[in-house]
Amino acid sequence: MEKQRLDKIIASTGKWSRREVKALVRQGRVLVDGVPARSAEDKADPLASEITVNGELLTYRKYTWVMLNKPAGYLSATEDGRGPTVLDLLPPELKKQGLFPVGRLDKDTEGLLLLTNEGGLAHDLLSPRHHVEKVYYTRVAGRLTEEDCRAFAAGMTLDDGLVCQSAGLEILSVGEESEAHVTLREGKFHQVKRMLAFRGKPVLYLERVRMGNLPLDLSLSRGEHRFLTPEELEGLRHISH
Ligand code: URA
Repeated sequence: MEKQRLDKIIASTGKWSRREVKALVRQGRVLVDGVPARSAEDKADPLASEITVNGELLTYRKYTWVMLNKPAGYLSATEDGRGPTVLDLLPPELKKQGLFPVGRLDKDTEGLLLLTNEGGLAHDLLSPRHHVEKVYYTRVAGRLTEEDCRAFAAGMTLDDGLVCQSAGLEILSVGEESEAHVTLREGKFHQVKRMLAFRGKPVLYLERVRMGNLPLDLSLSRGEHRFLTPEELEGLRHISH
């Protein structure tokens, strides 16, 4: 791989800003193959050299993948004049990496949202060809019934002509308000809300809890993010093939 500046390599982990890297280098806390770096502008091959920061070995990744626990009130976009976007929840050094959300959650929807700068895999995960499952927890007004489950399983054509493929509806509780898990293998605009509204059970709350084999990390508070582990990323690459 081509050599790159140390500050660029280290800041791409999202853990340190370029300015912090400069200070760390000055303090002798950045080693390249065991030798303290002289300048943050020194160049190294991130795949061929062993780079440590504060004794911690850097695992270089070409692309960045982040899981965000999205709170309500943020738009799934990179820029939008209408309000804060999910990018506003990330630190500046991550914001600079050209991350974009993998698909959209509505402004009021919470839960699992992936962000990346790897266009190819993001596209594959969203492509209807790959049938990657997206699972949502929802609370609706009204009593969900077995008939609703059958209608979801059969697929439905909404009043506005939208054709929805077979989807899962697993009822968790029934009352004046009901709770359920909805599983989609496609991702049309406002799909969960529109399917449930069509069944006369408008959505009161919606949260994505799983994408493919990746569950929402419940140790993340709303608004918090973390990097995907290499194993999680491998799992995503696997299901998108
Ligand atoms: N379906 C919806 O209606 N909204 C979302 O945010 C995601 C799926």
